[in-house]
Amino acid sequence: MSNLKPVVVVGSINTDLVSVTVRIPLAGETVLGSDFKIYTGGKGANQAVAVARLGYPVRMIGRVGSDSFGREARIHLITAGVDTDLVETNDGPSGIAVICVSATGENSIIVTPGANGTLTPSHLEQRLAEIRNAGVVLTQLEIPLETVECLAEICSREGIPLILDPAPAADLPDSLFKRVSWLTPNLTETGFYTNEGVGTKKFDPLSAVRQLRQRGVHGVLLKLGQKGVVLGYGNGKIETLPAFDVQAIDRTGAGDAFNGGFAVGLMKGMNVVESARFATAVAAISVTRPGAQTSMPTLNEVQQFIAQQAARVP
Ligand code: RIB
Repeated sequence: MSNLKPVVVVGSINTDLVSVTVRIPLAGETVLGSDFKIYTGGKGANQAVAVARLGYPVRMIGRVGSDSFGREARIHLITAGVDTDLVETNDGPSGIAVICVSATGENSIIVTPGANGTLTPSHLEQRLAEIRNAGVVLTQLEIPLETVECLAEICSREGIPLILDPAPAADLPDSLFKRVSWLTPNLTETGFYTNEGVGTKKFDPLSAVRQLRQRGVHGVLLKLGQKGVVLGYGNGKIETLPAFDVQAIDRTGAGDAFNGGFAVGLMKGMNVVESARFATAVAAISVTRPGAQTSMPTLNEVQQFIAQQAARVP
């Protein structure tokens, strides 16, 4: 590992079982799939791979199972350039995600945590030195909430920025919100964490940002997909960044691409808006490719994409 302070990801490592269908089935409905693939996934692992593909040092803290899925997941992380020395193997099943992707690239996901559910606060206490050495820490909610709370407490105490992807949505205590540097909900999660009527005409993203900040979060990045990103930070500052216009085929992992890109932007000294713009480009490229980790772009690809977009005649 280089002399740069690494990004540390504390989170889930899954295997994604992905069926492609015309549309996501309703309750009680059976639809035929047109394709099935197995990918390595997990919000934590995806974010770690996003950082590694962008060429920035990244270390993962997490747990895989003792099955073949766990072995494959570890190999994929290593191949992508993620430091997996702190990824432990739990005697039992690995995390699994059953994913349905529609013709328009939308998805629905069921995650069964497996080994991810065995990452406890005591594991973090054993990794204090590595967490203290992080430039920024990324986490999500596919590991036990008490572990996320313990991590937030460590990051707050040590002055390390913490980016929390609050997915899947869960009831969170205000003590956790107060310790988060950047909260990055998508549209569905914004609906869960606020009373802003997501999906209705009344939805006001600016008001959603304000509500989240009132709970004590330092900065908010609402990931609104094709509608772009709304940032709330500093002394009441709010900015809206448009999404890039791309043909999406699979949005799985787009939020993870964004979070990884945002962390790299910050670590490279970009300001908040520049980092969010960079992250938006990383996510835009990822939705044009199938799978989650398989869709993460390199730094070179992102730079070329941004240059091409800037040269486009409006
Ligand atoms: O964010 C996408 C990820 O969510 C998938 O890779 C799946 O494993 C679930 O964790």
